[in-house]
Amino acid sequence: MNLKVRSFEDYKETYKKSVERPEEFWSGIAEEFKWRKKWDKVLSWDFKGPDVRWFEGGKLNITENCLDRHIQELGDKPAIIWEPNDPNENYRILSYKQLLFNVEQFANVLKNNDIVKGDRVCIYLPMVPELAIAVLACARIGAVHSVVFGGFSAQSIADRINDAQCKLVITADGSFRGTKVIELKDIVDDALGQCKSVERVIVLTRTRTPVSMIKGRDVWWEDEIKKVETQGNPHFPAEEMDAEDMLFILYTSGSTGSPKGVVHTCGGYMVYTGYTFANTFQYERGDVYFCTADIGWITGHSYIVYGPLSQGATSLMFEGIPTYPDAGRLWDIVEKHRVNIVYTAPTAIRSLMGFGDEYVEGKDLSSIKTLGSVGEPINEEAWKWFDEKVGHGKAPIVDTYWQTETGGFIISPIAGITPTVPSYAMFPQPGIQLALMDENGREIEGNDVSGNLCVKFPWPGMLRTTYGDHERCRKTYFATYENMYFTGDGCLRDKDGYYRITGRVDDVLNVSGHRIGTAEVEDAINRHSDVVESAVVGYPHAIKGQGIYAFVVAGDHLKDADLMRGDINKTVSRIIGAIAKPEKIQFVTGLPKTRSGKIMRRILRKIAEGDTSNLGDTTTLLDPEVVEEIKKGAEALR
Ligand code: WTA
Repeated sequence: MNLKVRSFEDYKETYKKSVERPEEFWSGIAEEFKWRKKWDKVLSWDFKGPDVRWFEGGKLNITENCLDRHIQELGDKPAIIWEPNDPNENYRILSYKQLLFNVEQFANVLKNNDIVKGDRVCIYLPMVPELAIAVLACARIGAVHSVVFGGFSAQSIADRINDAQCKLVITADGSFRGTKVIELKDIVDDALGQCKSVERVIVLTRTRTPVSMIKGRDVWWEDEIKKVETQGNPHFPAEEMDAEDMLFILYTSGSTGSPKGVVHTCGGYMVYTGYTFANTFQYERGDVYFCTADIGWITGHSYIVYGPLSQGATSLMFEGIPTYPDAGRLWDIVEKHRVNIVYTAPTAIRSLMGFGDEYVEGKDLSSIKTLGSVGEPINEEAWKWFDEKVGHGKAPIVDTYWQTETGGFIISPIAGITPTVPSYAMFPQPGIQLALMDENGREIEGNDVSGNLCVKFPWPGMLRTTYGDHERCRKTYFATYENMYFTGDGCLRDKDGYYRITGRVDDVLNVSGHRIGTAEVEDAINRHSDVVESAVVGYPHAIKGQGIYAFVVAGDHLKDADLMRGDINKTVSRIIGAIAKPEKIQFVTGLPKTRSGKIMRRILRKIAEGDTSNLGDTTTLLDPEVVEEIKKGAEALR
């Protein structure tokens, strides 16, 4: 990428140009990619629909940008370094040549299994190179991937498969996480009872866990590769895609209903993730870049796979967890692979801080140039620890704010170029026109203000729709404020014009950087046969950022509260996944409701936060007494 910002002055000029002449700005960036045919029109848009199109008429394949175009210069350079869960197992390095070879091979596997452009493919794999290979092979053949994070349950997989009508599932026998083995194929089998669209399951061997293989439906990854080998042609010419063809669907939680399938398209997403990756981290050729996220989340899509690879970067993929075999594992990896850029989440930083400095001190972290944080607001203490203990005060920290829907960073410092302040995401990325809005739908001008964070002009990486339900996309993101994309986050702009994200203003929780909707958790709890109703809110949690607090009205059977808590947790794990289990479950006889039957979450939130001094006006409640009872119960739980 030649168009990286080089100085703070340059940032300011670039930003100004990107706002005054956005089409010229973005077409300049897009020129740095490989297109089979250039676009006819840079942008057409209307936030009412919404209908946003970038680089219309352009033809490309993102994998040619991530792989083929690097072969001449970087063919033997590492594209992916893979670090296994067990540090004693051999790590793997895939050069750009090897990765291209594997992707072409697996694209042939997809073709042999009747996958064609436009088909949806569900991927449920551990963090092994084959996950990146499967993702890229889908992109190469033009199939739409829907990656499901390995922590989601069978029911969640089934819901996602059915929503997208996936024809194929790619999974593994199991996955290693620390000392645990998670039986992925078993979980997929449980899901598939509900999924009529799935014709084929491809199973990778990883843990050698026994699995059931159903004749006519299930095949082994390794056998399919052998077939391609005997067919004799390892190449797979990339499918030509329109800029606005769908690249992938990724499900994410909102404030209401079931998770929605956020849709990203080929051209704009490629340009945006490539540019923001190179620019924000100031990536230089040869740097080893380590993002600790899972490819099952947007961070992994944009900043382990597509962004880094389109820039010819070396992307390190880690299969395990930061605390195995001990809390020094991330730093061992940095030492072992001479990592230059570490990109992680505040929850990981806080958890490692808690284990004590002895796990980081004494490690050779001299290779580190840049640090990054993502997923949730980073508190000052964690920021400082990261800065001092990991960056040794020399590595700029980029606190990148963005969302599944934004495709890439929208507010972030630029490493070493823009100033940084702990817990501030600082400045909009070039091309991002922010607005803070008040309750009356008016934009708040000036500095030292706060409001609801919106974006008022399109950017190439933004979502185009929610799969199968465009109206839901409109209602969720484009209906709250006219002609604005609404993020769902609150934000302040301080006296110097620096931006700081203050957290979600809707009913979306952020637990350990994982996005979870309260409505989803309530729905899962309510499916327990002895639950009458429930209300779920977030509360501040020292390590996870937010914890899940459930107020539950149980039926007559409540004899053993602890057992029932266990049952509820099991139910939530079954329906959503272990990541959505409430930390606290309080049994109550009723919930505070307005006379029209609406649950007063504001009151419950305050009680969960332990701040009961000022609950506001409770006289309008249907049953004000219930609040006193809930307050007492909450104290007992604390
Ligand atoms: C939150 C993750 C503060 C925010 C990339 C957003 C952040 C949600 C930051 C999106 C940050 C993400 N500072 N809050 N740097 N980054 N968030 O879709 O509430 O999993 O709306 O995307 O995470 O979560 P998602």
